[in-house]
Amino acid sequence: MSIHPEEIWEPASDVHTPRGTLLAEAARDHLWMHFTRHSVFEDHGDGGLGHSVPIIVRGEGHRIWDDRGREYIDGLAGLFVTQVGHGRTEIAEAMAAQARELAYFPLWSYAHPRAIELAERLAFLAPGDLNRVFFTTGGGEAVESAWKLAKQYFKLTGKPTKHKVISRSIAYHGTPHGALSLTGIPPARAPFEPLVPGAHKVPNTNFYRAPEHLQNDEKAFGRWAADRIAEAIEFEGPETVAAVFLEPVQNSGGCFPPPPGYFERVREICDEYDVLLVSDETICAFGRIGSIFACDDFGYVPDIITTAKGITSGYAPLGLMVASDRLFEPFKSGLTYFPHGYTWGGHPVSCAAAMANLDIFEREGLTDHVKANAPVFRAALDGLRDLSLVGDVRGAGFFYGIELVKDKATRETFDHDECERLLRGFLSKALFDAGIYCRADDRGDPVIQLAPPLTVGPAEFEDIASRLRGVLVEAENHL
Ligand SMILES: Cc1ncc(COP(=O)(O)O)c(C=O)c1O
Repeated sequence: MSIHPEEIWEPASDVHTPRGTLLAEAARDHLWMHFTRHSVFEDHGDGGLGHSVPIIVRGEGHRIWDDRGREYIDGLAGLFVTQVGHGRTEIAEAMAAQARELAYFPLWSYAHPRAIELAERLAFLAPGDLNRVFFTTGGGEAVESAWKLAKQYFKLTGKPTKHKVISRSIAYHGTPHGALSLTGIPPARAPFEPLVPGAHKVPNTNFYRAPEHLQNDEKAFGRWAADRIAEAIEFEGPETVAAVFLEPVQNSGGCFPPPPGYFERVREICDEYDVLLVSDETICAFGRIGSIFACDDFGYVPDIITTAKGITSGYAPLGLMVASDRLFEPFKSGLTYFPHGYTWGGHPVSCAAAMANLDIFEREGLTDHVKANAPVFRAALDGLRDLSLVGDVRGAGFFYGIELVKDKATRETFDHDECERLLRGFLSKALFDAGIYCRADDRGDPVIQLAPPLTVGPAEFEDIASRLRGVLVEAENHL
């Protein structure tokens, strides 16, 4: 699993650290990279550096540059993060001004103006009565916070046995133990077991891989997938289930949008069993699908939204959950409080970045831009369907996955060795060489994922599609 940058073999550039070490050498010797196989960076006995770590040094708009001065399209907005694009000096300036005024203060019994302003702004943007904002530093902490809130809420309201959670197969919800228990990716979980008990999985909404009898009816497939949640609640016992965690469009596995009627049915089920619906919008919020909160794109109102990433467009780390008035109610009076928090949660500099980021969204009409241009982006990628490797193109907004298959007619996927050869051995490097940074991922079936900054338009869609075409045509020869 992962983005496979480790396979990008290049001689190191001659950029040095302040201590005089080559950057690539210092990376190899001291940097512990995330979800990354380090073995490929090792010296192979020839005095060289092994494969060199790709080092990105600069960004401007939707473009990034490496330490050799080569330019790439940022086809993944960093990691589904850089919504307004790189190099926005007004965000940097807002952060600098905040650091000068008040660099840090916690939200433990005290508050600071930027967190208050941002909480009010987000409550105004969030649907329904989701009015209470709890800040974290990232998406995993937001998910962790939501599960803990669900458990405590039910303890406070006379249903103390409700503690279990339900999420979907292959979904990624983060790495803290609770969030990892919600994550449905076996290789990400296995090294850390035993995990938190009570986290159950249901099928995701991959229509391309729907059970045979539902393959021609997306609505019936959606109903079937939603009903698996009711079935799991019944099986576990409704008096034990606290919450269901779902992304509006599931990222891991390659962009599974909800079938028509899916969330309507999920909402019904959650209401029927008094189970909280958590919309994990770590990726999907802030225009990635179109609206500020993606539940609005699919017409449902959750009980909690968890999000991070695009809130600051990556200029500083910030995550949050927005909870409904109902969930905050028991915390309003007496000695009750939520015994949970983070030193960096709602950091003033991050909140200042978020406010400046949202100003750009409003001024440049980014959500309208995504809504208007999503069909154009989709059409450009749909144009790749004639290639023999392209099995499916799916997603929404500025968020797409291209599933690669061995046999289009049977939808047969690649085995482990073929995946290694195709994704790690060829695609990651070839895409990068073609000047596009994006993700070749095999956490489910192999997919190429695309989520560029929200500022791109038709010219960039065509550019992305033509670079992909070149690489995929060549990939056919590597099987
Ligand atoms: C849906 C979802 N939830 C949670 C997370 C974890 O977020 P973070 O890496 O900020 O902890 C991610 C990260 O990609 C995500 O996509």
